[in-house]
Amino acid sequence: MTTVSLTSTPLAKTRTDAVVLATTSGDDPRVLGLDALPKQARAAVESAARVVGATGAADELLKVPAPGGLGASLLVLAGTGADGADALTDETLRRTAGSAVRQLAGTGSVTLALPATTAAQAGAVAEGAVLGGYVFSGHPGSTEPVGAVEVLVADAKDKESRAAVERAQVVGSAVNGVRDLVNTPPNLLYPESFAERARTLAKGTKVDVTVLDDDALRAGGYGGLVGVGQGSTRGPRLVRLEWKPRKATGHYALVGKGITFDSGGLSIKPAKSMETMKSDMAGAAAVLHTVLAAARLNVPVRVTGWLALAENMPSATAQRPSDVITIRGGRTVEVLNTDAEGRLVLADALVAAGEEDPDVLVDIATLTGAQMVALGNQVSAVMGTDDVRGAVVAAAGRAGEQFWPMPLPEELRPSLTSPVADMANIGERYGGMLVAGLFLREFTDGRPWAHLDIAGPAFNEGGPRHYVPKGGTGVGVRTLLSLLDSAAQA
Ligand code: BES
Ligand code: MN
Ligand code: ZN
Repeated sequence: MTTVSLTSTPLAKTRTDAVVLATTSGDDPRVLGLDALPKQARAAVESAARVVGATGAADELLKVPAPGGLGASLLVLAGTGADGADALTDETLRRTAGSAVRQLAGTGSVTLALPATTAAQAGAVAEGAVLGGYVFSGHPGSTEPVGAVEVLVADAKDKESRAAVERAQVVGSAVNGVRDLVNTPPNLLYPESFAERARTLAKGTKVDVTVLDDDALRAGGYGGLVGVGQGSTRGPRLVRLEWKPRKATGHYALVGKGITFDSGGLSIKPAKSMETMKSDMAGAAAVLHTVLAAARLNVPVRVTGWLALAENMPSATAQRPSDVITIRGGRTVEVLNTDAEGRLVLADALVAAGEEDPDVLVDIATLTGAQMVALGNQVSAVMGTDDVRGAVVAAAGRAGEQFWPMPLPEELRPSLTSPVADMANIGERYGGMLVAGLFLREFTDGRPWAHLDIAGPAFNEGGPRHYVPKGGTGVGVRTLLSLLDSAAQA
């Protein structure tokens, strides 16, 4: 893992493998932070930037030999994509740091001499470094991530800056933990092993873990988890996590969809659509690592986490289209399409979470292909009650994630009616993401609630970009942690 620390040692005296400077884009690309270099090196770096044709575009990374007078052999010019120093935001800094550290994988030590003057900026650079330093350890022969990153600031002893870096380390590691779970092949990560991972990760922390296995789920009337899980030889689990600080300013219940593989069940998916379905547990992974991070950060909010874990498989024991199941609490659902399984396991978990009377319910799920049609793979959707939906959008904005508010139109609700049960699990095709949200709303008991659909953003099928690698992205953790922070301040 990439470790990050602050330094105020002048670059002339820093022994490191690579020094990274930021470049701006536009008509007049500039190298920023030249004054951190020894005087005699500044002109050399500016001319090197011209010679290699630095444009300052985002994700641009140009390596030049370090000029004399530096304790490094490599000088790296990292594009910010910002048109001038005034256009730099915390997110630009996060991305620039992440892009550089990601592309420098294989380098032992890196010093980031980016324009970070405030504590928030130092934290953003540090967070970008941890996120960009991610390499999935499950691939044999993968490049070693950058070992140590130093963030150059005016005062490395500044309390606020140190706290920001510490937080960045915790938050970044939580995101990376989600990426690891999502990238793990589904033959190795299944409901039981996921629950076991939750237990292992919580060991030695103040997070309490309870696991309901298939027998307990049947006995408890969790018909959604049982129905979805019954097609697999590897039974479902419901994991409950709890972080309960001494003086809590409220109780947030976080519910995550944890389908460890979604084949569609008997309503089977086309082969191509199945290829990324190991990522269908990204919501549960985000909840797990959010609760663990909340405890590490000592967030003064009580948080319960619910991981609704099942493998959706077709078999002689699988649920059939037209089966009627009973969700915890007694409501019945006609399962018309076994590929609309996420809402079934979430319904059980939302009811269970609600039984403890939390102040706010939030669920997060790779729920619908319609989310990707509506918003693509870099913007997540949030639905729910106005207050919590707004709080999620604001929290995401502060955290550097993109969540867009979506409606729950009453007009679509009748499409979920069933002649044989309280509801069907599918409705009107158009607006499918909203229909799924309306389905979930039925199980929230009118509580303040938000539903986060991360179907597209959870898994990056394209090439890496800034601090986002290929594969699992870890989306949602930063927004949820920022949401808990705002709750703590309320
Ligand atoms: N896990 C999928 C949604 C999904 C699709 C996530 C693509 C990420 C990428 C979900 O279980 C599903 O299959 N949803 C169906 C619902 C439909 C049958 C109403 C869908 O979106 O097609
Ligand atoms: Mn499905
Ligand atoms: Zn699914």
